[in-house]
Amino acid sequence: MTAKLLDGKRLSAEIRDSIREETACLRKGGIVPGLAVILVGDDPASRIYVGRKAESCLEVGIASSLHRLPASTSQIELLELIGRLNGDSSIHGILVQLPLPPQIAPDAVLAAIRPEKDVDGFHPVNMGRLVAGLPSSRPCTPKGILRLLKATGIPLAGKEAVVIGRSNIVGKPVALMLLEENATVTICHSRTKDLAGQARRADILVAAIGKPRLVTADMIKEGAVVIDVGINRLEGRLVGDVDYGPAAQKASWITPVPGGVGPMTIAMLLENTLELARKH
Ligand code: GUN
Repeated sequence: MTAKLLDGKRLSAEIRDSIREETACLRKGGIVPGLAVILVGDDPASRIYVGRKAESCLEVGIASSLHRLPASTSQIELLELIGRLNGDSSIHGILVQLPLPPQIAPDAVLAAIRPEKDVDGFHPVNMGRLVAGLPSSRPCTPKGILRLLKATGIPLAGKEAVVIGRSNIVGKPVALMLLEENATVTICHSRTKDLAGQARRADILVAAIGKPRLVTADMIKEGAVVIDVGINRLEGRLVGDVDYGPAAQKASWITPVPGGVGPMTIAMLLENTLELARKH
């Protein structure tokens, strides 16, 4: 089987077009959706991601403010900035780009964002709401993955979904969101005994482990849908967690890297910002 391309670039462009229209409507009603993005330090990948987020806001008419703080910023200084943004009525969403420098505890920072402005859905209240199946801002990458899966038209109910990776940003929330869609979900991680055997059971395989080309073709069931969340630099190229060429010979659908999950994360950030502005 040769896989069909699950094209995140194209789907995200369609979503951004409709967000642009909805933002224009809100603006006519006097509400300008506002997103504050905070970047602490100079992690090169984070700088690129944050730049793309700000650019995409501009394209769809969302007002974004980028707060770049030095790597030496203390936790208290960051919490003070979040406190100011929490109280600023022109800001509907606050995003603190992760990872943070070692002197800052991410848990304390994420918990300081008002849950109503938590555009990433990482606040413990919003994570709890996800676990309980209650509405909340859903984390952007998992939400984008679900949109890609739905775009295949394949029903998720009853499917075997295997998630490789247990991060709070992707692995855990995407597993819960697949469960919400009535898939049967397995989460694998670095201590899983037979990763290849688990992966081979998957109708839907999500690779979010951050290891270049870890998922090889022999780990993929014939006809599986393969979602590659990895963005790894290997010999000067960007590669995913999946060995794309051979994997595409086994899968029915597969996301490319780049151009798969990445653009969907940004589209979902815009969508979450718009939803928070609308609620406001
Ligand atoms: N770092 C990597 N992915 C993300 C994300 O989705 N949100 C934030 N805030 N930081 C990230």
